[in-house]
Formats: sequence, C-alpha cells, structure tokens
Amino acid sequence: MSAKAVDKLSSQEAEKELDRLAKDIAGHDRRYHMDDAPSISDADYDALRRRNADIEARFPLLVRPDSPSHRVGSKASEKFAKVRHTVPMLSLDNAFSDEDVADFLGRVRRFLGRKDDEEIAVTAEPKIDGLSASLRYENGVLVRGATRGDGQEGEDITANLKTISGIPLRLKGKPPAILEVRGEVFMTHKAFAALNKRQEKDGKPVYANPRNSAAGSVRQLDPGITASRELNFFAYTWGEISALPADTQSGMLEKFADYGFPVNPLTRRCESLGQMLKFYADISAKRAKLGYDIDGVVYKVDRLDLQERLGFVSRSSRWATAHKFPAEQAETVLEDIEIQVGRTGKLAPVARLAPVTVGGVVVRNATLHNEDEIARLDARIGDHVVIQRAGDVIPQIVRVLTDKRPRNAKPYKFPQTCPVCGSHAVREVDEKTGKQDVDRRCTGGLVCDAQTVERLRYFVGRDQFDIEGLGGTMIQLFHDEGLLKEPADIFALTEKPGKVSKILAAHRAALSEERRSAEGKDPVKTKKKEDREDKVVENMMAAIETRRKIGLDRLINALGIRHVGETTARLIARHYRTIDAFLAGMEGDNAREELESLEGIGGVVAEAICDFFGEKHNVKALGRLLQWLDVTPMAAPAKTSPVSGKTVVFTGTLEKMTRQEAKARAEMLGAKVSGSVSAKTDIVVAGPGAGSKLKDAQKHNVTVMDEDAWLKLIS
Ligand code: IVH
Repeated sequence: MSAKAVDKLSSQEAEKELDRLAKDIAGHDRRYHMDDAPSISDADYDALRRRNADIEARFPLLVRPDSPSHRVGSKASEKFAKVRHTVPMLSLDNAFSDEDVADFLGRVRRFLGRKDDEEIAVTAEPKIDGLSASLRYENGVLVRGATRGDGQEGEDITANLKTISGIPLRLKGKPPAILEVRGEVFMTHKAFAALNKRQEKDGKPVYANPRNSAAGSVRQLDPGITASRELNFFAYTWGEISALPADTQSGMLEKFADYGFPVNPLTRRCESLGQMLKFYADISAKRAKLGYDIDGVVYKVDRLDLQERLGFVSRSSRWATAHKFPAEQAETVLEDIEIQVGRTGKLAPVARLAPVTVGGVVVRNATLHNEDEIARLDARIGDHVVIQRAGDVIPQIVRVLTDKRPRNAKPYKFPQTCPVCGSHAVREVDEKTGKQDVDRRCTGGLVCDAQTVERLRYFVGRDQFDIEGLGGTMIQLFHDEGLLKEPADIFALTEKPGKVSKILAAHRAALSEERRSAEGKDPVKTKKKEDREDKVVENMMAAIETRRKIGLDRLINALGIRHVGETTARLIARHYRTIDAFLAGMEGDNAREELESLEGIGGVVAEAICDFFGEKHNVKALGRLLQWLDVTPMAAPAKTSPVSGKTVVFTGTLEKMTRQEAKARAEMLGAKVSGSVSAKTDIVVAGPGAGSKLKDAQKHNVTVMDEDAWLKLIS
C-alpha cells in the first residue's frame, strides 16, 4: 500500500487527501449508479471509503460538508436474478465510412454467391442509443423481461419493464404462442432534462446522458422508481419464436406494430447502396431534432431466409451492420504520460488529461497506443490535444494543436526498461518481414511482478474464472505476501483461511490503525466488524471453491495465451471438446496444423498457442492448476444434428451455396470441416470437378456424397 499511514499525515496532507477522496468516491458512485459502469472492484471502493473515514476520525475539524461519509454507501448489494437467453442477444459490427458499408454488402453477396452488381434489399433503422431488452410473451402475455447482459445471460427486470407504458402486457392480434421481442429502452431528451431537474432539486446526483439514465432507471431494485421515470421502447428484432409471422425484416416490424409494439416510424426498406447512404445522410441531418439519441443507422438484410443462411460469426450477425456517426471530439491538455505494464509485458502509454466532457462522459485518460504513435503525434507533456471518443471505444488523441504549444512543453522519452521490474524492454523483430513490432515489451516474463499480477487478475476476471470477492487489490496483496504466484495458488488459498484472514487483518490495520483503537472502546461494534470480515473471507473461499468446476472454454481463455481471448478459446474448446483431448493435441506433432485448420484461427494465433505449450514451466503450472479443477467438456453445438462430431471435406464446385457458407453451416451443426482427406474423415461432399480428394476418399473408404445428398442430410 503506497498511501501514507493515517497517523503520519500532516493536517495539510489530510485536507488535500480528503478533497481528493470526496471527488474520487463521488466519481465511483456516479460510474456505478449513473453510468452503470464501475471502474474499480467493490473491495477497492470499500478501501477508499474506509480511508476517508479513518482520516476524518483523526481530523474531525477537516470533515467536508460534501464528505462521502454523509451519504450511505451507494452500492446496491442485492442483485437481480439471472436469465439465460435461449437465443443469444448478438451485437453488431460497425461501419464508419461509405466504403465500410459497401464492403458489408460485398461480404453478404460473396457469402451468398451473388454477382457483384446484384442488389440485395436491406432495412435501414435508426440505431437508438439506449439499452436493449428482451421481452418474452407466452400466448400473448408478457411473462419475462431481461437485460442483454453479456448476450448469453442477462438480468430479470420484468417488474421494472412492466412499468414502461410502451411495453404491452398483453398482445393484440394473433401473435405466435412463444415470442421474444427485442428492442431498445430509451429516454427522450425532454424526459431526461425533467428527471435531472428533479434529481437536482432533491439533492440527488444527476445523470450524465439519456442512455445512462435509461440504464440506471431500469436497474432500480424498486420498480416504483422505474415507474416514476418516463421511458420509451422501440421493438426491432426477436429471439425465440414458435413460428415466423413474416418472411422479411420489414414484414416482421409491421407484425410487431400489429401486436401493439412501438416500432420506429423512420425505418425504411432500401434496394441499393445509394438508397442506404441517402437514408444515412437524411437521418444525420434530422438527428438533432429527433428528440432522442441515436448513434448511427442499422442495416439488416431484409429477407429472413437470407439472414438464416448468412448466420453469425462469433458474436455478430453477418446479415446486419451498424453505420456509426463520426466520433465526438474535444480539446484538452495532456498533463502527463504514464506507462502501464500489461499481462503480456506490453508497455502501454496512457495519456493523463485535464478532465473534459466528450459525448456526455467525463474523460481523464486516453490511450497513446505505443511509442511510434507518440512520435507520430509529436505529443509533448503540456500540449493542447484533440481527443476523440467513439461509442465504448477507449478515447484516443487525434492530434496535437502545435500552435498552442506552451514554451515549456516537454518531449516524452519512452522508457527502455520496464518501470516495474527494471528488465530490458524491447521491440521484437519479425523474422519473416524484418519489421519491428510496434509494442515494446518487458523481457522480465516470470520475474516481472506487473505481468504476474496482471495475469492473475485476468485469470479471475469476469469472462475467465469469474471469482467474486477476489479483486485486483486482493491479488496484489496476496502476491506481495508471497501467497500467489500462479493460478494454482488461488485454489490453494482455500486451505489457508487462517493465513488469509491474518493478511487481510494486517492490511486493514495498516489502513486504519487510528479508527481501530477508537472502536476498541466499543467492544460490541468491534465484534460486529469482525463478524463481517470473517464473512468476507468465508465468501471469498466459497467463491473460489465453486469455480473448481469450470468450462473448457473459460479455462483456455483464462490461461492468458497471447492472441487467445474469449472467441478463440471457444473455437478451440469446441474443436477439442475435453481438456484431455486438448492437452493430447498440444503434445502431438501436428498441433499447429490442427489449430490452423480451424475456421477463425490463423498462423499467428496457432504459433502463440504452440509457443505457450512449448514452455515447460507453462505446462507444469497448468498441470498444478488442473489438480484443483473439474473441467467440464464443451457441449457439441448441436447434439441432434446428424453430422455433429463428424469430419467433413468439401471438394469440387458447389452449386447451391458458396464454400464459405457450406463450411459455416456445417460447423454450426457441430461438424469439423477439414481441407484434406485422411482416415479420420467421415464425409466427403464432392461437386463437379472434384479431383485428388475424391481419390483419397476412395482410398480411405470414406463416404462420398453430392451436394444435394448433403443438403438433405442436414436439412
Ligand atoms: S439489432 C443482430 N437494431 O445496438 C442484431 N440493434 O450494437 C442485433 N440497437 O445491442 C441488434 N438500435 O442495443 C438492432 N434498430 C436496431 C438497434 C439496435 C439500437 C442497439 C442494441 C444492440 C446494439 C448492438
């Protein structure tokens, strides 16, 4: 802990720190409550509040009128029940320019095997900037409403959604027996202004923008509060549905309107790229007068049979894209550049900025990417800079206003050594291209504490092991105390609850010696506190214990292999299915070949994985970790499919679909698609002109069928 002990603070230092804490805590409260986007762990947040209380206890005269201790800790402890989406809620790819939109249409045409000049009808819809919700109707009655969450699992906010006047509780007409309608909950500018006025009058914090206020309003634990907020809804897509009432996107929206849903009246069907871009230009011109926020236009292939064929890649559908409005920009001052060392040793320069509001959000930091970028911008400390923020992307510095450069602006010297462990930091040179990597990396590897700690933090993260109660501060603390070096050590903590408690107690003592002695006079209070802290340890142990059972995809993601994130980890897990098969595959001679044969995995990724398993210490550490775990095999994507688990090779010309489509569909049904025929191949689908692969199939006695037979098999 770098902060000075409270009893060593001078009153001047205390005053300064209380001022900073009041601001920081208010900021965290706002991010948590208003922005719905906390930036620190609960434990770290609690530590800030404790530090504030400790300083106040020693300097009672310095307690500020706006002290955080006058407000109740504003974090809600209760949570909503989780809801699994039977049909995942996908996200959209982005297009930022006319060319990107043309590329989108090009990809659609190519996938469907259409000619370059063939028009494909799409709907163009305003992209509402709110939060998406999924509403489930059974026999026309609203039975459940959920947030998107991570797309697979959301939160049950039925009671709150029921209070929104645009959301029908009972549908009109003849809707399908099961219908999940999805759309956007949002707040108009007028309602937003009125709400903030009310908040201000009541002495409550104001919301940053309509999107955050809509999100904050539907996630209230008391539906009465949601009801008092004026929220709107537009329906635009669906999840589970027992029967499709139309065969186009535009037809579906008409049906939704018939059932009683609000549908955005600005939606249009477009027949060409020209019409799409015209729609975008018209909407851009109208944007300020709409009365609600939109951040772009969504294009969707209109025909549902084509949507079905196009399917999705990872988390976005191939049949839709979002044409975003240009990013918002603002001017501020670059106050400092700091280096953060990441989990892969990358030295990442972060710009510390004078706070500035961009698109309704206060920005204090921006990424500078790497040293070449700093040089390209010629960014110096003290410079006036233009920053830009697009959607959820981390803000960036676009340019330096050199004409405003102060005389004392300081050029920045990029460090050549790791600021954490002191090891050399180098830019690797690609053997093949001779090109220098853009990133400078610490060579400290296992000796670099920053990398060790970052790797462990990644390991317990939400998409990895998701261990609640073991946040960044705790990991750092246990690491500093020598208890944590590698993932297996996390599970070993469960055998040392006494030691864990002791470390936490010492940490607390360091934070608040003063207060503890004050409270020592009141044994009842102290006892309560201890009980609560025992509970913290108990909960943490329980959280670790429950994660001993883990899915193969999460485990692979958690290993922190370079270039392997959630999507790639899932691809690998789907292919190998079990941890044993995966490990056996990695030990085999053709590990790299096999990885590269998977759709979505290229040479660089395959090499990174092989490099990881090429290091003995990694394999050993993984072995130690596995002793604690029960790794659940990855379920086959479609168990009922007649081709799941089969290895298929396509050869010759396909006439009803493109090769890309054939491959995507087969994989969706659980088959593995390979490029060459071997004894392991189950089916060869041969079109006209098939050559050597057909011969190989005969040699290995593999079932051969034509395209029609294949389509019949999978239909
Ligand atoms: S369709 C596969 N349509 O944008 C299609 N989304 O970036 C899934 N959104 O989570 C979504 N307006 O919150 C669709 N007309 C519209 C939309 C829209 C806003 C939001 C939605 C979604 C996000 C994806």
